[in-house]
Amino acid sequence: MTFQLNCPVCLESLQGDKKHLECSNRHSYDAAKQGYWNLLLANQKRSKDPGDNAEMVQARRKFLALGHYQPLADTIAERLADLAAQQNTPRILDMGCGEGYYTHRMQQRLELTGNDYQLAGLDISKHAVKAACNQTKALTWIVASGARMPVADASLDLLTVLFSRLMPEEFSRTLKPGAELLIAYPGEDHLIELRDLIYDEVRHSGFKPESVLGEQFELVSTEPVKYSFTLPDKIQISQLLAMTPHGWRINQAARDRLAKLNSLELTLDVSLARFKRR
Ligand SMILES: C[S@@+](CC[C@H](N)C(=O)[O-])C[C@H]1O[C@@H](n2cnc3c(N)ncnc32)[C@H](O)[C@@H]1O
Ligand SMILES: [Zn+2]
Repeated sequence: MTFQLNCPVCLESLQGDKKHLECSNRHSYDAAKQGYWNLLLANQKRSKDPGDNAEMVQARRKFLALGHYQPLADTIAERLADLAAQQNTPRILDMGCGEGYYTHRMQQRLELTGNDYQLAGLDISKHAVKAACNQTKALTWIVASGARMPVADASLDLLTVLFSRLMPEEFSRTLKPGAELLIAYPGEDHLIELRDLIYDEVRHSGFKPESVLGEQFELVSTEPVKYSFTLPDKIQISQLLAMTPHGWRINQAARDRLAKLNSLELTLDVSLARFKRR
């Protein structure tokens, strides 16, 4: 089922076909040639080219394609499918979807259930969303700001936010009361071996999402996903470095240390948390 979009200007519902959408106030939008909807208004951009740039998107796409994060993606998709199964034609949005690696897995997993659903991936970066269109055309891809999503008030049954910014006000505007928000964020030991190699002193973020979401959302559960994986060669090590912010902050001495490695065993440690809109 196609995802019901609303006008980013006036929030009236958008009607039309695969190529063109229009609201009752005659604001109209054409689909991009790759198939996504650009619903990001000029006044919502803080820079000319907001969100992840083309280089960051390509680095992430290449690293994720190696498959090391697939068990994580499968777990996320499984949890989402369980939550979706409790609803009739759930409307699901993945905010900050990037190039759609996880969103695509969710779509494949939802397809297996045979139930109807509406699924959209939204990101402020047009580079990311263009890449997402190459993953699959079986869901709705949107360039828009997560701070003002083109969906009606209290219209989402599920919202996923994976390694992306938490915007509690907008999340609570768009989710139905009692609907769930599923988030993923790095745990204390995530890529700890790499951080040990890069930093003299490894910082612990101590991040608690409830401190950001607490007023509008109630924490339902937290689940750690933790396993080891091995980067078997120098190419994969450099692909990981290109993707992670740790790789962007690296100094020359650490770069030299890493260049000597022929393989690297790493810990993936990610927390999945479920929150309910109050
Ligand atoms: C670390 S990436 C995560 C991407 C994807 N969820 C994943 O895990 O592979 C964060 C994403 O948030 C996007 N982003 C940043 N600010 C945003 C905003 N205000 N609204 C929507 N997306 C935003 C970036 O463009 C980027 O694609
Ligand atoms: Zn409108």
